[in-house]
Formats: sequence, C-alpha cells, structure tokens
Amino acid sequence: MKVTVFGIGYVGLVQAAVMAEVGHDVVCVDVDQTKVDNLKKGIIPIYEPGLTPLVEEHYASGRLQFTTDAKEAVAHGDVQFIAVGTPPDEDGSADLKYVLAVAETIATYMSEPKVIITKSTVPVGTADKVTAKVQQTLQSLNKSLAFDVVSNPEFLKEGAAVNDCMRPDRIVVGTFNERPVDLMRELYEPFNRNHDKMVFMDVRSAELTKYAANCMLATKISFMNEMANLAELLGADIEHVRKGIGSDPRIGYHFIYPGCGYGGSCFPKDVQALIRTSEGEQYQPKILQAVEAVNNQQKYKLPNLVKRHFGEQLAGKTFALWGLSFKPNTDDMREASSRVLIDELTAAGATIKAFDPEAMEETQRIYGVRDDLELVGTKEAALKGADALIICTEWKQFRAPDFDVIKQQLKQAVLFDGRNMFEPQRLSKKGFIYYAIGRGETVKKVSV
Ligand code: UDX
Repeated sequence: MKVTVFGIGYVGLVQAAVMAEVGHDVVCVDVDQTKVDNLKKGIIPIYEPGLTPLVEEHYASGRLQFTTDAKEAVAHGDVQFIAVGTPPDEDGSADLKYVLAVAETIATYMSEPKVIITKSTVPVGTADKVTAKVQQTLQSLNKSLAFDVVSNPEFLKEGAAVNDCMRPDRIVVGTFNERPVDLMRELYEPFNRNHDKMVFMDVRSAELTKYAANCMLATKISFMNEMANLAELLGADIEHVRKGIGSDPRIGYHFIYPGCGYGGSCFPKDVQALIRTSEGEQYQPKILQAVEAVNNQQKYKLPNLVKRHFGEQLAGKTFALWGLSFKPNTDDMREASSRVLIDELTAAGATIKAFDPEAMEETQRIYGVRDDLELVGTKEAALKGADALIICTEWKQFRAPDFDVIKQQLKQAVLFDGRNMFEPQRLSKKGFIYYAIGRGETVKKVSV
C-alpha cells in the first residue's frame, strides 16, 4: 500500500520504517530540509535501537523515501499519517497548530479520496477539528472530494519503539463510519498475524484510549512513589512491598517501580493535557492532579536527600552523576529527573560530574558549557574526588559496578540511588552509606 507520513519525528520515523519493513511503499515528509538531507545520508535524528538499519535498508530499497515536497507526498499515499508534534502550550494543553497545518496541506494538494490518520497523541475532539479543517480548505478551493479521518494512536515506548511497532499488543482504530475500516485492516494486516489485535471504535474513544493508557501507567508510578515515601516513614522496604503486591495478577509487576519520578515526552505531557481537557469540561480530575503533584515532588527526592546529608549549602562539593536520560536506552532528556537534580544541586553551589551512555550530546545541547557541570567520558571518570555518587537512570551498565573502585575514587562512600538498583544490606556491608527510594533503615524518617 502507498503510505505518506507527515512529520519525521519519533513516532513518524519509527512508524514509517516498520511500514516499509513489511512491504508498504512509504514517503516521509517534513518541513525541516536538514533533517531530510541527513536521513538521505543515513543520519538518524534520534537514538532508537534497531531503527538505523531499518531506515538504511529501506531507503536503499526505495520503499522509504524522504522529502520536503508536500505536494508530491500527498499525491503518493492512499493513507496519510499525521505524526507531527503536539507540544504543550503555556497551560499544558496540547497545541494542535502543526496537526491542523498538515490537515490543511493535505486538503490543498489532494486530488483523489484520501484516508487521513492522526497518529500523534491528540486531545479528544481533534479528529473533528481535522475534519473541519479539511472540509473548509476543500471548500475554499472549490474541490469536492471524499476523505476519511481516522484516529490511530501510537503506544510505542522509547528504547523499544521498533519492536513495539512491529509487534503491537493492540491496534486501536477510531473511525467516524465503516468506510475506512477495510483499508485500515489491509494497512495493518502484516502486523495482525497471530490473533486479531485490531480494536475498532468511534474516534473520540480512540483518542481517549491513548490518554487513559498513559495516565493509568503514570498513576501506577505515582502511587508506588507515594507508597515508597510512606514506607520510609514507617520503616518498611518498598521493594518487598512491590514484590508482595505485584504477585497479585490484578495488580501485576509492570510499572510499579518506585523511583525519582517519571519523565519523558509522554507521561508528563499527557497527564497535564488530560487535566486541561477535564477542566475544559468543568470537571476536576482529582486523581490526575495528584499523579502530577506526586511526580513533581518525587523529582526533588534525590536533591533533598543530598541536602539532608551534606547540608543546604553545597559550595565546594562535587557529585558524580550516573544517568541523565529519563530512562535507559534513549538519549531523551525531556522532563528527566536528572535535570531537577542538576538544577537543584548546582543552585546550591555544587559541581556535578556527569556520565550517561547515550545522552551526553543532548545534555551538552541543553546546558551548554558550564563550570558547574562537567560531562565526562566514562562512569569511572565521574567518580574521581567526588563527595558522593548519585544515580538517576538505571542503565544496565550501572547494574554491577565495582564497588571497591567507587569507594576508592569517592571522597566518602555515599551513594544516592534514585532507581533502587542495589541491595541496601550488601552496600552497608561494603561500608557505603546508601540512600535509596523507600527502603526502610538507611532513610528512615526521611521524607521530601
Ligand atoms: C510511555 C508509555 O510506556 C508508552 O506506551 C507510550 O506510548 C509513551 O509513553 P516512554 O515515555 O517511552 O513510554 O517510557 P516508559 O518506559 O513508559 O517510562 C516512562 C517513565 O516512567 C520513565 O521515566 C521511567 O523511568 C518511569 N517509570 C516507569 C518508573 O518510574 N517506574 C516504573 O515502574 C516504570
């Protein structure tokens, strides 16, 4: 099938690459000429395992093309994906200007019926706005053409995006009527082999499904972070509690890991956007507000523990920081808890020596050159002469460090672990003062 994808960002590029992989003929279009030129040279704008070989292979095979020519791109696809960004505007609601601009572009250039698919995470009601925009534009150009707008939200995780797209656990499709159903089935047929994963519904339900999924997951995390804070006050170990509740299949082991707060491009943005949507309906979403508040507070957990140990004034202190990205296997720093930590500690006068396996360039881009933030090439280099080690991201490279080396290199054997990677007793035996999240003894009676 001929497929056009507007927006070569995260969602668009991964979607396009896997569509090409299963045999569709895909044209990707973006307004950013440099991005398009780079992709043609095999330079991929994001770090995502497995994506580069797919893009290279299918660019070479001709099944994946990149262009800035919107007219040519609209002419190409029977289906037109809209996968452009929906950045939060000042009040946290999703800004639809790019989505609607693409809708207008499609209407401007189309000369035969098209199926227009919203793939970006968009507020409930967006498909109606896209429909209105296409209709208006067609009318103003005196064109009378049939089109369908479909909501087909994406559920991919950064770091596992290619796999999530190749093997989706569900394919949610919201339509206004039956007309685009067969075409959507054909499009997703290669991904729908073992059992039927397609879930058809009305567009508003499909749009809300995406928010409900992310908000539910964010709720699980904030709930566990609240339990972790409580465990500290009560002298309990949240890791025991986690295993104890996860064994109930109604709760499950997934997404109940306490930590230094969730980040990324989805959870913070989507929780905020659904709060704004609810408020727009004069409904106060008390759970979502609490989910956000708990998470914002949790990001201060590590800096507060550091200040509790070393005092409020940190001038002259240096901290080794392992892990900058909002989670492992990505270079994405959006809403990462490491950023709150860096800002808080440097504001208190500290210097940070940081290492991340992938996010060094991104950190450099965000912070520029600063005296109080040194980016080093290895995790060991961060340790030398530091007053303590802080871990913000659970990269697997950090799972089995040589604790003797850490102890030798640090001024004092103090470790702040925002991801509960180690056993407190083992570290205590090795002579470490070990602060984790919600783990009884070492942090008893401490709350943020
Ligand atoms: C998320 C959803 O998982 C995905 O389905 C959706 O399409 C987009 O948003 P992503 O943001 O890539 O994906 O990352 P995810 O793996 O979900 O992690 C999000 C954040 O939650 C990370 O900061 C992670 O560290 C944190 N997290 C996750 C926890 O703190 N505890 C957990 O138990 C799980």
